[in-house]
Amino acid sequence: MSGVELTVERVRKTYEDGRVVALDEVSLEAAAGEFVAVTGPSGCGKSTLLNLVGALDRPDSGAIWVGGERVDGLRDPAEYRAATVGFVFQFHNLVPVLSAAENVQVPMMGRGRGRVERVRRARELLDEVGLAHRAASRPPTLSGGERQRVALARALANEPRLLLADEPTGALDSETAAQVLALVRRLQADHGTTVLLVTNDDAAAAAADRRIRMRDGRLLRAGRITA
Ligand SMILES: Nc1ncnc2c1ncn2[C@@H]1O[C@H](COP(=O)(O)OP(=O)(O)OP(=O)(O)O)[C@@H](O)[C@H]1O
Ligand SMILES: [Mg+2]
Repeated sequence: MSGVELTVERVRKTYEDGRVVALDEVSLEAAAGEFVAVTGPSGCGKSTLLNLVGALDRPDSGAIWVGGERVDGLRDPAEYRAATVGFVFQFHNLVPVLSAAENVQVPMMGRGRGRVERVRRARELLDEVGLAHRAASRPPTLSGGERQRVALARALANEPRLLLADEPTGALDSETAAQVLALVRRLQADHGTTVLLVTNDDAAAAAADRRIRMRDGRLLRAGRITA
């Protein structure tokens, strides 16, 4: 039986001196190896939730645990992010002047892997997302779906236990989106990665083990594993 991997406990996040309530006491759990989709209308707080779980930002109150470690308010969130989290953003954030293989190597820098090992691992990851043949290509020469697959490979570079994906298929046609989702599912199955994926796309939400709906900074139903 797999345990709880992610716990978000009554997290509140406001902006603009409290005038904008992005998250209003949100609580949810995800099991280890579970694929959870977060859906809801624009502005309901989905990206905010992902950013807090990934320690890109801090909650006003509440607590977040990943793999038993409390991750809100960490003194060194960069270390947590590098060691534990893989991010895929809607517009992938690849470095345009680096090749696909070099982009995949970026998160491995400074993590104790030598150059030979980084190159080997980048090749392996690009192979896993079906892009070994484009390893030397720069992102501007790749299609949207190919870039998103490179972004996935990069997110997995350090074998994160938690994959955070914000609208990873938002800019893709339905067929390419289906390929990216199938890949996320395969990576989840092969590596036991816990996935938290934000989407406005019903097809993407349907690919998940469980769907959590948000509105106005709240979950519509309890986000408990047992709920
Ligand atoms: N840095 C910020 N400063 C001020 N307000 C912000 C900031 N970031 C987000 N917000 C506000 O917080 C609320 C939640 O934003 P968030 O980006 O989490 O929404 P979302 O659900 O991801 O929306 P979308 O589907 O459009 O990406 C919105 O009202 C947004 O305007
Ligand atoms: Mg968003």
